[in-house]
Amino acid sequence: MSKVKVGIIGSRFQADCVAAALKAVPEEAELVAVASPTKGNAADFAKRHGVPHAYTDYRELLRNPEVEMISITAPNRLHAEITIAAAKSGKHVVCEKPLCMTLEEADAMIDVCRQAGVLLLYAEELFFAPKYVKAKQMADEGAFGRVHLVKQGEKHSGPHSDWFWDVSQSGGGAVMDLGCHGIAFCWWFLGKQKVKSVYSHMATQVHRDRTEGEDEAVTIIEFANGAVGMVESSWNRPGGMDDCIEVFGDKGQTYADMLMGNALPTYSEVGFGYAVEKAASTKGWSYPVFEEQWNYGFPQEMRHFARCVRGTETPISDGETGRMVQEVLYAAYASAGQGCRIALPFRPKGVAKPIDLWKPIPVAPVRKLSS
Ligand SMILES: NC(=O)c1ccc[n+]([C@@H]2O[C@H](COP(=O)([O-])OP(=O)(O)OC[C@H]3O[C@@H](n4cnc5c(N)ncnc54)[C@H](O)[C@@H]3O)[C@@H](O)[C@H]2O)c1
Repeated sequence: MSKVKVGIIGSRFQADCVAAALKAVPEEAELVAVASPTKGNAADFAKRHGVPHAYTDYRELLRNPEVEMISITAPNRLHAEITIAAAKSGKHVVCEKPLCMTLEEADAMIDVCRQAGVLLLYAEELFFAPKYVKAKQMADEGAFGRVHLVKQGEKHSGPHSDWFWDVSQSGGGAVMDLGCHGIAFCWWFLGKQKVKSVYSHMATQVHRDRTEGEDEAVTIIEFANGAVGMVESSWNRPGGMDDCIEVFGDKGQTYADMLMGNALPTYSEVGFGYAVEKAASTKGWSYPVFEEQWNYGFPQEMRHFARCVRGTETPISDGETGRMVQEVLYAAYASAGQGCRIALPFRPKGVAKPIDLWKPIPVAPVRKLSS
């Protein structure tokens, strides 16, 4: 089977991650192009990863007939626009999380890909993280009896790029950025049950000077079979990325710490190069993780997506998955805004970005005209 030729849109954090993941599955896929608008960035990325074609405009990449599948690693506000253009150019699309900004965009992305006969693949790597896959295999075997509670938490010290903090570009704060993983995870773990209701508490506890978005949240998801998902999202935890799950049933439970649980508890007075994503320091105690990409499941995800393009595997995460997450995101923000549980289906129209359901854009007070 020939390798799937991939083009990456974006050239920074997640683009490096996708490039590394593709290199780890050389028998399945090959990175042939990159596009990124900032002068010099695409060329630097191409040099760094040995990519033959570099463009400053993603539309040029879409005109390259060699590219079969694109990976969108641009800011959230661009996901829909790029997906629609890619589908119209006949490219399969891998879209990073979250799928987009609005449910209308999600619908349009799914429709255009369907009409164009291309795949829309939603990049949720937790479905491929080996520890989490093992936990799900045990749950599916019945190891824990009837699973009634699944928890997932993703916490770090806050995003690396300014656009995440700007809700007009990101759509929201920690829930949009990190909670989307937990929502997808609980849904997948519990067998893709329908979501019945969502309750969320959100606050901006630490970073009021930097964002209008929430930096701390707990979201509770009730599924049709009565099981509950609990998702913790935080931009306020220094010390490196923390990604954990807990699973509880009437016959047992399991706990998995994706990164620190696979690290070397280390003490160094002088420090060293790199420990784990978002760890600001390696001096003193730290938890350097090995095979970081593999622990997340990125190479396994890319292998699956390449095989989906070749028709040998069926997508386990697609546009519909992303749209389900988007609807739960809407419900989470609305719940935090109204202080109550929101029942699904929940599809309010004309929402510009999910966070508007929590915090309406402040309107300047109307100036009274003196008569
Ligand atoms: N799956 C994960 O765990 C994970 C992790 C990090 C980021 N992400 C997602 O990946 C996406 C990118 O995040 P990031 O951390 O790489 O951000 P980043 O800021 O590090 O990189 C964004 C890239 O997009 C490029 N870009 C901006 N405007 C563009 C345009 N018009 N056309 C093409 N490229 C453009 C920028 O130049 C930059 O190279 C986001 O949607 C984010 O949520 C997913």
